[in-house]
Amino acid sequence: MVRRLTEIREAWQKKAMDYDKTAIPEAYDRGRQMQPGVMALWLDEMASILPRRPERIVDLGCGTGRLSAGLANGYAAQVIGVDPSEKMLREAQAKDLGPDVSFRRGSAETITVESGWADLVFMSMVFHHIDDRETAAAECMRVLAPGGCVAIRNATREQAASVPFNGWFEGFEAVYEARMPALAEITAPFEAAGFRLIGRRVIDQPTHPDWTTFVARTAQRADSLLIRLPDAAFEAGMARLRAANRPGPVHDRVDLVVLQTPA
Ligand SMILES: C[S@@+](CC[C@H](N)C(=O)[O-])C[C@H]1O[C@@H](n2cnc3c(N)ncnc32)[C@H](O)[C@@H]1O
Repeated sequence: MVRRLTEIREAWQKKAMDYDKTAIPEAYDRGRQMQPGVMALWLDEMASILPRRPERIVDLGCGTGRLSAGLANGYAAQVIGVDPSEKMLREAQAKDLGPDVSFRRGSAETITVESGWADLVFMSMVFHHIDDRETAAAECMRVLAPGGCVAIRNATREQAASVPFNGWFEGFEAVYEARMPALAEITAPFEAAGFRLIGRRVIDQPTHPDWTTFVARTAQRADSLLIRLPDAAFEAGMARLRAANRPGPVHDRVDLVVLQTPA
């Protein structure tokens, strides 16, 4: 078992996720719709840590721009969304989110934003896709003005037990363990690049209003871990979910880590 986990981890760590080679972009927003109040919850939690209200934000790994407008409206900020996936960016651009939100092709390793432009780099569910974390941290440092911050919203190994897919799909726990970082793995490359950890929260958030919605959205398979499971394991898990019924909203717990550059 230990050997198998090690092999899975090594295979996964070599394999970057290219969203353009999947059907995730078209299904992403249907599968990942945010519950009312959840964006405000994240904006409030970040604001409680940030030294000041951000005015220029890079939404790094913005994907379909699901959170870009919320950042722009919530903080009255200009937002540049950056993502390597043409298909994800096409979905984002189609939304026409107004003059304060724009999108560019780029990546965490090559952030297509001028040096010192941003006062916040926001990364939501992106960290586990980054191959070269040292270069990414250096790039964040480059695009941030002195005293600027990086806010990382990500699933972590510490919160594995709260993931709603756990226990339903054979092999899910192994791929989650192989791919998702431990908290210390998130902070290490940023601290090595000169950032200082200024806040950490675990956010308990409702992800689906009820079981039926959870099952319908999970069926979209708009998740980079579910898409890696063999089709038979995914279908067997879906059958188990459909046969079950749990009362109340579905929740998970996600980590928020905020680090600051020297002033
Ligand atoms: C799970 S989606 C998150 C999208 C968005 N941040 C959100 O929370 O809805 C992950 C995104 O990371 C992007 N991505 C993958 N590798 C990346 C990298 N090296 N740098 C920046 N973004 C990356 C993918 O193209 C995808 O759009």
